[in-house]
Amino acid sequence: MTTTLARPHGTRGSCLLRLRAMPLPEMRALLSRARDHLEAIESGTPDGAWLSSLRGVVVANLFFEDSTRTRMSFTLAARRLGAEVLDLAAGSSSLKKGETLLDTARVVEAMGAHALVIRHEHSGACDTVARAVRCAVLNAGDGRHEHPTQGLLDALALARARGRDADFDLSGLRVAILGDVLNSRVARSDIAAFTALGASVVCVGPPAFAPASLKGMGVEVAHDLDAVLPTVDAVQTLRIQFERSATIASARDYARGYQLTTARATKLKRGAIVMHPGPVNRGVELAPDVADDPTRSVILNQVAAGVAVRMAALERCVGG
Ligand code: NCD
Repeated sequence: MTTTLARPHGTRGSCLLRLRAMPLPEMRALLSRARDHLEAIESGTPDGAWLSSLRGVVVANLFFEDSTRTRMSFTLAARRLGAEVLDLAAGSSSLKKGETLLDTARVVEAMGAHALVIRHEHSGACDTVARAVRCAVLNAGDGRHEHPTQGLLDALALARARGRDADFDLSGLRVAILGDVLNSRVARSDIAAFTALGASVVCVGPPAFAPASLKGMGVEVAHDLDAVLPTVDAVQTLRIQFERSATIASARDYARGYQLTTARATKLKRGAIVMHPGPVNRGVELAPDVADDPTRSVILNQVAAGVAVRMAALERCVGG
């Protein structure tokens, strides 16, 4: 039997499938909760709710694409809140025997999972599963579509670095998203979060990666990186999605025009920050010295923010 449940944003047992069209108060509430978790983690004084707010909850990671940060931080976030975590090893599961994504999801739900954290190569895969199961579905990256917890953690890291994490009002800030925007689910979730919170966004890259059609998402599009750099408060650099793009120039050609090199980084304003969702292809989209520059790079702060954001996301979806 197929069961379809409507789950409005913000209700108990709800899904987190995308940031686009998420009501602003809900986004701010998630970010505030994540900020509080992050501050507690940093100060070493977690609040008492930590170990119990998801006690009895079963969270299942179903990752059909590779992951380091997202999978590990969802696991850590769930455990910090007292949940049990199941991990599907996609490469050695019954998927190899021909079982479908939907059947796999239903099987894991039937074992008692309350939340499925899903990463899949197909855009819309998480929506499809969410229509077929009763439990919560959290999108951990679906094809080129969205990666909502990444968008939230990028917004949290940006707001903290720029002193905007009291109210998450990013108005007046200008953010460049640099590189393979077209094929990036991170970019779509970042655009949704940054623009909803009031920042202006400029997507920069060669026309194949930053086509004019992106303007429909409420962003500017530019192809001259050197002209953009002095105008922005943050640059989110992206990995070329070699696994998703049909029109890749060579990495060397790309780097010549669009790598954020040490020389290019000197064009940034004082206080402008450098971001990357990881994994970084050093020497392609980002020079190693820029990635490791302690005065500008917040790449590891993004990773730390990811654990706190996933705690807040799990609480929202399956918390009491
Ligand atoms: C990203 C992804 O998988 O979408 N990684 C991540 O979750 N931090 C970005 C990428 O793979 O380039």
